[in-house]
Amino acid sequence: MKKMFYVKNQRMFAEVTEMCKFMPRCLREKYYKILQNIFHFDLWHLMPFEERIYAVELVQTVNKIIAEKPGLRKKRVIEVGCGLGDIIAGVALPVQKKTGFDIDNRVIGGARLAHPMNKFIQGSFTDIANEDISFLIAVNFLHSIDGNTVTELLAGVTKRNSVDYIVVDQLKSPAYRYIHDWEKVMGELGYTLYKKSRRYEAARGSRWNLIYRQITR
Ligand SMILES: C[S@@+](CC[C@H](N)C(=O)[O-])C[C@H]1O[C@@H](n2cnc3c(N)ncnc32)[C@H](O)[C@@H]1O
Repeated sequence: MKKMFYVKNQRMFAEVTEMCKFMPRCLREKYYKILQNIFHFDLWHLMPFEERIYAVELVQTVNKIIAEKPGLRKKRVIEVGCGLGDIIAGVALPVQKKTGFDIDNRVIGGARLAHPMNKFIQGSFTDIANEDISFLIAVNFLHSIDGNTVTELLAGVTKRNSVDYIVVDQLKSPAYRYIHDWEKVMGELGYTLYKKSRRYEAARGSRWNLIYRQITR
């Protein structure tokens, strides 16, 4: 029934999504506050996308790589820890080729209304299987997960799926609990550094986006 309603009103949903994309920043901020009142997700998510420069530039970089390598357009982009989905929604691919996962059902509720045409699933790395993935994006949360668990999660997801690029962030600040040795983790998984972003400010420290590419044998 729900699906029928969606199919019948697909055009209307598409128009709403287009409106959200071009919604002036002040209106979008008000809309996100309304979503926060409904779903009670963490207030962190109200930080405007434009002020999360690491996220804005990450979207630009991923879009540039996809534009340069047409083969990647056939594959899926998956973001784990997507929050309200601003990063995954900004990836320049049809909505059928993108999925956002987040462990927090409150934020997934918000994401589905913030970006209505995009697909969002409550879940994490362990819920991803049999996908042909161009980019697996996981930024701004792995610092709360210990090194062994991160290695296990990434080893699992790369075993169950084909993953060309993995995007993570390197943090340097005492405010973050776990600082990962990505060269070691990614090297063991068979990935090599493809692109490192410029430095961003993060909790009186530093942050870099790192894009790792699978080493082809
Ligand atoms: C600080 S927000 C970052 C959102 C987004 N990645 C960004 O940078 O704009 C971190 C998000 O990661 C989610 N998260 C934390 N641990 C997770 C896990 N193990 N699997 C999936 N999502 C997780 C949280 O619920 C939260 O929405």
